[in-house]
Amino acid sequence: MAPPSSSSYDPVQVSTLQPGELNRMRDEALAAIDAAADLDALAGVRTAFVAGRSAPLVLAQRELGALAPQARADAGRRHNEAKRAVQSAYDARLVVLTGQRDARMLVEDAVDVTLPTGRAPVGARHPLTTLSERICDVFLAMGYEVAEGPEVEHDWFNFEALNFPPDHPARTVHDTLYVEPRGSGLLLRTHTSPVQIRAMLERPLPVYVVCPGRTYRADTLDATHSPVFGQVEGLAVDEGITMAHLRGTLDAFAGAMFGAGLHTRLRPSFFPFTEPSAEIDVQCFNCRGDRDRWPCRVCSSEGWIEWGGCGMVNPAVLRACGIDPARYTGFAFGMGLERTAMTRHDISDIREFVEGDVRFTEAFGVEG
Ligand code: PHE
Repeated sequence: MAPPSSSSYDPVQVSTLQPGELNRMRDEALAAIDAAADLDALAGVRTAFVAGRSAPLVLAQRELGALAPQARADAGRRHNEAKRAVQSAYDARLVVLTGQRDARMLVEDAVDVTLPTGRAPVGARHPLTTLSERICDVFLAMGYEVAEGPEVEHDWFNFEALNFPPDHPARTVHDTLYVEPRGSGLLLRTHTSPVQIRAMLERPLPVYVVCPGRTYRADTLDATHSPVFGQVEGLAVDEGITMAHLRGTLDAFAGAMFGAGLHTRLRPSFFPFTEPSAEIDVQCFNCRGDRDRWPCRVCSSEGWIEWGGCGMVNPAVLRACGIDPARYTGFAFGMGLERTAMTRHDISDIREFVEGDVRFTEAFGVEG
């Protein structure tokens, strides 16, 4: 449509500014606003009747310019009144409909925090897995490598090369689980010490390895025994290794496991593959041997907790692996993973580790 010019007088256009016509437009807009049932409908009404480019009142406003000055002032005032009435009705309706929408959303989108969730429970890693990773980290930081060996092992690695005599009681079926047929020489390893032999045979000297793994013995499951359990082995073979290195390493390990500054104590013992050999006790992390804090539930007021075995690698074992004992010496140690975990976390029954009850493992979360 061509813009109306002030010099031409168009009675058709200007009739839209007549009072009757303006009132009709206003009432039509008011009725539409009133009928808008929701915010979407109201937005449509706004375009059609309130502020859209072809809303009748907007079009009428453009025609004001075509009127003579006196008529223009009069029509302008009436147009303004009509426009204001429509705008304020629109504003009021907007407030009402927005309020209704918000109230509806509060009901529809309400969250029932008591409903059970569909979320899958977070899994937990087995505490022995996280413990053996933690142990490996301690030794990796000291320059060791992680070594592994098979759980189905040959008699030669498990006993023979470790200097067990043929009639050693550990070799009987009372202690060892053999793999059939009997003559195969295969068994389920009874300790992680065969990994010492594999490490010394496979790796260039010097050897510094830590070997976590599963081991088996012919025991019946009860609170303190399990036919399958974990061990961790440590082995260092180098020139000039002494028992002092063993002691320092065990103290560092004990500190990392049970608390900084906790010491270890060695008691004379015997293993075919170490000479001399010792049992390792770790200072009780609860009472630290302080009699004033006895009775102590953790160590039964001993001040020390049995932890594992250790010793200087027997020269016969070095020779079995082709290592010259005149030049190289070594130390080795081994301890139970369950025992370590039970001491660390005050667990009284070893069966917890094999029963697979998530309520037990969950308590350890996913610590890494
Ligand atoms: N292998 C021994 C055991 O199972 C522990 C041990 C390891 C002892 C290394 C000495 C040196 O009891």
